[in-house]
Amino acid sequence: MRVLFVCLGNICRSPTAEAVFRAKASAAGRGDIESDSCGTAAYHAGEPPDRRSQRAAQTRGYKMSDLRARGVTTSDFHDFDLLLAMDENNLDDLLEQAPPGTEGRVRLFLDYGTDLDTKAVPDPYYGDGDGFEQVLDLVENASDGLLRAI
Ligand code: 4NP
Repeated sequence: MRVLFVCLGNICRSPTAEAVFRAKASAAGRGDIESDSCGTAAYHAGEPPDRRSQRAAQTRGYKMSDLRARGVTTSDFHDFDLLLAMDENNLDDLLEQAPPGTEGRVRLFLDYGTDLDTKAVPDPYYGDGDGFEQVLDLVENASDGLLRAI
């Protein structure tokens, strides 16, 4: 099983999801599940995650510093069993690029959440510091649900 977390820039939300999900999968004895992350846009390609994301994640015990941003590629739609979008814009962008027959692999990450009143992980990039805590809350919730589902 291979899971790809997708946001816009791949420096805030999707690398957070990758780090959190990987830690939770490992703790649950599901280290066999492979995970990666990318952005629908490649303009931050090669960059480490945003410092604010790294700091918030580190406070909860997740390490993101080794991750590097990249853009989504056509082969991702074949290589990954699930491509999980952080918000509806990411979902629409992915579905526009999905080769025929791979659309079913593309879903909203928060479809795996429990008792959430939103389907989107809000983009924290231009907001205040609280956005990064909210990203972590949502990502932890949906990661637990994803682990139960796969
Ligand atoms: P992300 O956040 O999609 O969660 O990585 C963003 C990062 C950068 C930009 C937008 C969103 N940007 O416009 O540069």
